[in-house]
Amino acid sequence: MKIKSTQQAVIDSQADQIIIGHFKGQTENQWIDQLGSDVKDQFAARLSNKDFTGQAGQTQNIYNPNGQVITVLGLGKADKLTATALYENTHQVIQAAAKSRSQTVANYLAMCDSKNIDAEQAIKLVTLASAHAEYRYEDTKSYKKDNKHSLKEMELAVDDTQKEAFKHAKAMAAGVSAARHLGNYPPNVCNPKYIASYATKIAEKNRNCEINVLNHKQMKKMGMGALLAVGQGSANKPKMVVLKYNGADKDQAPIALVGKGITFDTGGISLKPGPNMDEMKYDMCGAATVIGGFVAAVELGLPINLMTFVPAVENMPDGKAYRPGDVITSYSGKTIEVLNTDAEGRMILCDTLTYSQEFKPSVVLDFATLTGACVVALGHQASAVMTKTDGLFDDLKTAGLQSHDRVWELPLWDEYQKQIDTTFADMQNIGGFPAGTITAGCFLSRFTDGQKWAHIDIAGTAWNNKKDGATGRPVAMLVQYLINESQK
Ligand code: BES
Ligand code: MN
Ligand code: ZN
Repeated sequence: MKIKSTQQAVIDSQADQIIIGHFKGQTENQWIDQLGSDVKDQFAARLSNKDFTGQAGQTQNIYNPNGQVITVLGLGKADKLTATALYENTHQVIQAAAKSRSQTVANYLAMCDSKNIDAEQAIKLVTLASAHAEYRYEDTKSYKKDNKHSLKEMELAVDDTQKEAFKHAKAMAAGVSAARHLGNYPPNVCNPKYIASYATKIAEKNRNCEINVLNHKQMKKMGMGALLAVGQGSANKPKMVVLKYNGADKDQAPIALVGKGITFDTGGISLKPGPNMDEMKYDMCGAATVIGGFVAAVELGLPINLMTFVPAVENMPDGKAYRPGDVITSYSGKTIEVLNTDAEGRMILCDTLTYSQEFKPSVVLDFATLTGACVVALGHQASAVMTKTDGLFDDLKTAGLQSHDRVWELPLWDEYQKQIDTTFADMQNIGGFPAGTITAGCFLSRFTDGQKWAHIDIAGTAWNNKKDGATGRPVAMLVQYLINESQK
């Protein structure tokens, strides 16, 4: 679906379907009023017999004599409208439109004034919710989209103050869509090689981009022992995919993004239980997040330098696999006792974090579906942020609120560090049951000394369930953060 902005009045729209909002208690509607007496009369009748009240989530279709469908979406009481409600109701109405016969839609939902949501946030929410709702996964279906029942174009009504935010939201949506594709793609196709070739295409298509892919032999020479240990049980050899975007002066330090790219996580020798193991195809959603963020930053031409690092590795049980009890020397030189081969994400991330520091970044953000414990702590609502850098959580929190892709902080206090101390190495790769998300963060913190760094655990947000698949979170938050940084 193509999304464009429009400043056209409702009456001039040629779209098959026009979507407008209506607050509960409103007796008139500014858009309906423009639409001729037939539509006006029908709507007035619905209001007066209370078929439609404007209750949040309620929809009412009215048929314009010219053939257009006018969909009125109830937004509840004007002073009670929240960002979540606007997002979810938009999502619902666009999903219904996508299943209907409408091929073109004019969407006026971002024009609804509410004291709780500013105009910029409204246009972002409506754009992101619309794009998200229209998405269909068909990459591996033999039966493709029925063209009659698909949305081809959406015109989003914006006012002058919303133009910039709309541009940002469109780029976010493109990044989200890339991340959802990568996340949903099956693990027999989306393996380390596929991620490397996907990233290569991005670099080749865009100016100011470079790519470097390290293969396992190069990484072996360099001494990336922790990353390679995880990959050594798989026939799909690990790759380190490094994308670079030069949008600012050469001497400006890059922002570094690191994304966990476990293309499938069986748990290795510490094998995971069978039920739902298929969902571990999503264990590369950190990689998908940083690639999606990269795509959006490039599309916007942000005046920053950006480097994204994706360790793409498959974690398999095998005669050659690493095992519990192994002591591994990481790229940093620090040694790690492996107590559970299923705590593999931190193993590939630690070497990548060490590597990223060679490029002297101004800040490093890593994104990872790192711990099941994170889903227990925060559910599917918020990504977890752990950082020791002053102000960094606040920046991420602000970006999350602006893009409606929220994060919440967990502490990285030194007291938790002792849970990963061991007799046999510098550290062990698990910290026991208490605070599993935090001890994973503590492990990573041992590889980011002196860096401005935050770790974002996206185990709960990157996907919700099998049916809806990858969410593309937290690409929107990441892109908003990059936009904010570029304006500092
Ligand atoms: N990829 C998983 C984390 C995960 C599990 C994310 C379920 C989303 C849903 C990660 O590699 C893992 O297996 N973590 C272990 C760590 C444990 C062995 C310390 C976990 O969370 O159980
Ligand atoms: Mn695991
Ligand atoms: Zn994993």
